[in-house]
Amino acid sequence: MKPITVRGVRSVDIELNEPGRAAEFYANTWNLTEIERSGESIWFRGTASHHHILAIHRSRGPAALRRITFDAADRDIVDALHKKVVESGCAAESPHEISVPGEGYGFGFADVENRNLAIVCDARDHSAPADVSDRPRKIAHININAAQIEKTNRFFTEVLGFRCVDHSGPLYFLHCDNSDHSSIVTGQTGKPTLNHVSFEMPDLESCMRGGGRMRDAGYPIEWGPGRHGAGNNVFCYFAGPEEFPIEYTAEVLQIDDGYEFHGPDYWKWPPGRLDRWGITPPHTARWKRIQDMVFFTSGSYRLSCSPF
Ligand SMILES: [Fe+2]
Repeated sequence: MKPITVRGVRSVDIELNEPGRAAEFYANTWNLTEIERSGESIWFRGTASHHHILAIHRSRGPAALRRITFDAADRDIVDALHKKVVESGCAAESPHEISVPGEGYGFGFADVENRNLAIVCDARDHSAPADVSDRPRKIAHININAAQIEKTNRFFTEVLGFRCVDHSGPLYFLHCDNSDHSSIVTGQTGKPTLNHVSFEMPDLESCMRGGGRMRDAGYPIEWGPGRHGAGNNVFCYFAGPEEFPIEYTAEVLQIDDGYEFHGPDYWKWPPGRLDRWGITPPHTARWKRIQDMVFFTSGSYRLSCSPF
């Protein structure tokens, strides 16, 4: 029997000191579309159907990750996952009708390392999604860092139903109920921080054009372009406004239940090589710093508590 799990990342809520300035960037340079604004919060959609994929809120402290929201197929799955989260001992609110933008039915909870997560279905999504060249579709994956990697991986696999499909270097690639190779990637750094948020472009050309547009706007490529081993996706990594770590990706490997797991001995390059093509220079010092810099906020996991 297939495990009960989510269908991937719906959206991410982030907190920045200058949300207005960041909103200009995410609309005009990163190429998302603003769909809602209330006070100092701004919501953006991609070209896929999700109501929004990014929400920016005002931070009173450093840049932070407020919440990762996962998509569920229906209310039965939301309820079943809620039961498993509660049984695991993690704090969770009961599933309910949601009144924040996007609406739907779901619940917020804090995971084993106190990350605020949510699972939502029946959101007010957009009809007739269609790719647009050079504009992100959706969040491809979120890479998080863990203080206790085994505990974190156990939670995602045994409670939330993800399957670990690859393990490369320090990274574990977690697949759920969609065809994307992975929707969550975990790695151990000793701190429960964000590594990066990855936005999926419709094709390789868009990923490259996005890289050029970012450079023109004063956001150089911090790592890439290149093609990863596990997941086979093309990548360009950047420090967005307030050095928030973001990625353009494309051509994510599509898999099914027959996909075979490989470990770190398999995902090895010759010395000095960092991607499949062998063209990417090493990560910049800035990228190394910012990929372990952004913490989850310590505010309430409840979806109705906004702002905290
Ligand atoms: Fe990534």
